[in-house]
Amino acid sequence: MRKKIAAGNWKMNKTFGEAVELTKGIVEAKIPEDVTVILGVPAIYLNKINGMAKSNERVFVSAQNAHQELRGAYTGEISVEMLKSIDIPYVILGHSERREYNCETPELLKKKVRIALDNNLEVIFCCGESLDIRKANKQEEYVRNQIKGSLSELSDEDMSHVTIAYEPIWAIGTGETASPQQAQDMHKSIRAYLNELFGNEIAADTAILYGGSVKPANAKEIFGQDDVDGGLVGGASMIADSFIEIINSFS
Ligand code: 13P
Repeated sequence: MRKKIAAGNWKMNKTFGEAVELTKGIVEAKIPEDVTVILGVPAIYLNKINGMAKSNERVFVSAQNAHQELRGAYTGEISVEMLKSIDIPYVILGHSERREYNCETPELLKKKVRIALDNNLEVIFCCGESLDIRKANKQEEYVRNQIKGSLSELSDEDMSHVTIAYEPIWAIGTGETASPQQAQDMHKSIRAYLNELFGNEIAADTAILYGGSVKPANAKEIFGQDDVDGGLVGGASMIADSFIEIINSFS
């Protein structure tokens, strides 16, 4: 049985006080027993928010990035070893914003995924196409190549610690959502590709999240698709009430 996951990605938002306030609202909520909630927190707040998350057994914390080396002269960077040392369970890797603004390539992400898994972090691996690629109807091939470039050499054991987040770039922060059918079509294609790479069991067990303008108003329909196992939510995850509504959108 694959997990149902409502993940938030706060990106570079919230002051410390605001982050604490938001977390309070979420950990105090009653979360359905079969739903896993993950908060993608700015690095500087990870330790504090992780401590708060421990008061609700359904809530976990994720870093938004980690470096590909274990340690060394990389000013300003954060390593997987640092994350582990403060007990952070998850890391988001390959978000389209990092691919675009920080030149993260599939090869680099392959290294990041490897070192994260080697250090016992759970990986949320993001993929997704731009509007140009969608208009050219090349989205499935493009996303498969992203997965191939970073995940194809993983073992089955590795893959049991990977969640995939499909986030079409044209739907991120734009208010434009992929239709439930578009999300389902892509998720089905990703799952078929996981089947090719890793076999039926991994394909069936890997949670695939949709991201891109998920809101309380559309979450139910999107999460209701056969191959959609939840969402990676930006804007709407940063207001406690709206995120809680999204958390309660699984049928
Ligand atoms: P929005 O929900 O704000 O579109 O952001 C999606 C996203 O990028 C989550 O990682």
